[in-house]
Amino acid sequence: MLQFDRLTKTFGANTAVDSVTLSFDKPIMVGIIGRSGAGKSTVLRMMNRLTDASSGAIRFEGRDVTALQGAEKRAWQSQCAMIFQQFNLVPRMDVVSNVLHGTLNRQSVITTMFNLFPQADILKAIEILERLGIAEHAAKRAEALSGGQQQRVAIARAVMQNPKIVLADEPIASLDPMNAQLVMQDLRRIHEEDGRMVIANLHTLDTARRYCDRIIGMRAGRVVFDGTADQLTTGAARDIYGADESFSEAATSTEIGTLDRTYAEALSTDSVPA
Ligand SMILES: Nc1ncnc2c1ncn2[C@@H]1O[C@H](COP(=O)(O)OP(=O)(O)OP(=O)(O)O)[C@@H](O)[C@H]1O
Ligand SMILES: [Mg+2]
Repeated sequence: MLQFDRLTKTFGANTAVDSVTLSFDKPIMVGIIGRSGAGKSTVLRMMNRLTDASSGAIRFEGRDVTALQGAEKRAWQSQCAMIFQQFNLVPRMDVVSNVLHGTLNRQSVITTMFNLFPQADILKAIEILERLGIAEHAAKRAEALSGGQQQRVAIARAVMQNPKIVLADEPIASLDPMNAQLVMQDLRRIHEEDGRMVIANLHTLDTARRYCDRIIGMRAGRVVFDGTADQLTTGAARDIYGADESFSEAATSTEIGTLDRTYAEALSTDSVPA
């Protein structure tokens, strides 16, 4: 379904993504982890063509999406919606209009300029907000919502695009643990209920383990781990993060669930003292 074939991105002498080859045969939920600068964002940015690959290819359903231009490129971009750490909503605009912006690539300039969206789209937007439990805020300005609520609006905007793939770049990095959980649950839902593939860059191991079917570990542009939550032991995590014996999982935790995880780890043989 989705393949990365020796995908590479260089910035001058710096190789940000170094010959990444991966294959996904069905729309699962994927977590990408790795320390700062490992190349996680660059991979997502190449996927939805915010930046061009230096070499290699990304194939989706047999088509090389790195080669698409013009209208085909825009069509691809709407098929892989992006969610960002900082939500990227229009702060002064109401929530429904923000969600409707997910349909912009289908609207004419005039429609967009005057915020004239088709009635069916407005109803659809409200339906999505209801599904994510935030319909009561539909008429408020985006800036009046909490961070967690704003990120759910961003998810609603992504769903409004009806994408096959949802790319999320550190979607919970600015949220408190409770909202982080809610946002991850929503991403999991749009994967499970709608069959959308979700690829999320995450900075916490416990979140990746809890929500993702498959975890990719990157280090200095390369894939150094590819496996399931169970396979991501503390030792494997230490390799990914390039840390020594002093590596502590607590430093990469979202807190909620840390207690039961710490207990589980106390029972496992590969645990390291915090
Ligand atoms: N536009 C750019 N110009 C030059 N170098 C860049 C650019 N974008 C990324 N890089 C470099 O590419 C490498 C990978 O960056 P990237 O943002 O993909 O890492 P990351 O894993 O997402 O890190 P973080 O966890 O901090 O978000 C880094 O060395 C970074 O400095
Ligand atoms: Mg990043």
